[in-house]
Amino acid sequence: MARLFLPAILLALVLVVSNAGAAEAAWWSGWRWDCLFPNNGRGGYGDHGHDGDLPSHSHSHVASIVTEDLYRSFFLHKDDAACPARGFYNYTSFLRAADAFPAFGGDGGNATRRREVAAFLAQISHETTGGWATAPDGPFAWGLCFKEEINPQSNYCDANNTQWPCVPGKSYHGRGPIQLSWNYNYGPAGKAVGFDGLREPEVVAGDPEVAFKTALWFWMTPRAPKPSCHDVMVGRYRPSGDDLAKNRTAGFGLTTNIINGGIECGPSGKPAPVEDRIGFFKRYCGMLGVDVGPNLDCANQQPYSSPS
Ligand SMILES: *[C@@H]1O[C@H](CO)[C@@H](O)[C@H](O)[C@H]1NC(C)=O
Ligand SMILES: *[C@@H]1O[C@H](CO)[C@@H](O)[C@H](O)[C@H]1NC(C)=O
Ligand SMILES: *[C@@H]1O[C@H](CO)[C@@H](O)[C@H](O)[C@H]1NC(C)=O
Ligand SMILES: *[C@@H]1O[C@H](CO)[C@@H](O)[C@H](O)[C@H]1NC(C)=O
Repeated sequence: MARLFLPAILLALVLVVSNAGAAEAAWWSGWRWDCLFPNNGRGGYGDHGHDGDLPSHSHSHVASIVTEDLYRSFFLHKDDAACPARGFYNYTSFLRAADAFPAFGGDGGNATRRREVAAFLAQISHETTGGWATAPDGPFAWGLCFKEEINPQSNYCDANNTQWPCVPGKSYHGRGPIQLSWNYNYGPAGKAVGFDGLREPEVVAGDPEVAFKTALWFWMTPRAPKPSCHDVMVGRYRPSGDDLAKNRTAGFGLTTNIINGGIECGPSGKPAPVEDRIGFFKRYCGMLGVDVGPNLDCANQQPYSSPS
């Protein structure tokens, strides 16, 4: 959400000895995350008590959509030596986190559920990608390569937010699959998921189950005037008159608008990162056997008004 670095450049330098990768890595440079609306968090977190390592007693219906084999195929390079998150985002952690949000991948018919899961995985892939245009297996096989923002330019403390006050010395830079950022997101995310987001933001890059839960919390939680990404993808979103006037109609593009519309959507938005998100979404929908639905991009949508 608040990433300011270009992972593609770093990986291109690591992986491609000749220079073409680095040059091409700039194809979606120049973007950065905007911030999200403060709180209003409705945690979807439910108690659960897994203790084994394998998801053999997982109740997650998500497991029937994303098998372990598919998970491996989606994120072909996440455990490569070049990926800082290697070994972190394991399948078990993903399923356990999904167990805490039963509506995720659980609303609507077969196609709707699959499309929602594809959309979530696509958005977290863009947030954590190590891919570039000519990357091995293509740019969309490199999701979940990063777990933490590299060289954050600030500690993402909105000191004006008194509901979720920053703790001195702590940094609220991007961490985890959705790159959770800012004190006003760490606070409510931690409250919903069960850790002290303000005092212990590091947990998001230290525990993969917590990391996935913060991403799902973000996905499932509306923050007025933004709907939740979940509601958008399952057909529960009801646009207001103002939303309709601003072309904010349902589809994958609206989830991009919710996540980073201030930077990427509208006539002065940035098509390159939007296309990167769409590229992941198309690939995952294809692998899950579902069509992508309408409104893939957000070029004709107005972004939401900026927070603080
Ligand atoms: C997945 O991550 C969790 C938390 O770090 C760890 O306990 C577990 O052993 C990992 N599982 C696999 C299969 O790597
Ligand atoms: C809504 O979309 C239409 C068609 O792309 C476009 O002409 C119009 O300018 C858009 N409205 C706004 C408010 O952006
Ligand atoms: C759900 O959709 C997938 C992909 O199209 C298909 O393979 C599967 O059989 C469907 N499952 C049910 C229960 O319809
Ligand atoms: C915090 O409040 C001050 C005083 O109202 C204002 O000047 C500043 O821009 C605000 N900062 C942020 C990040 O909103």
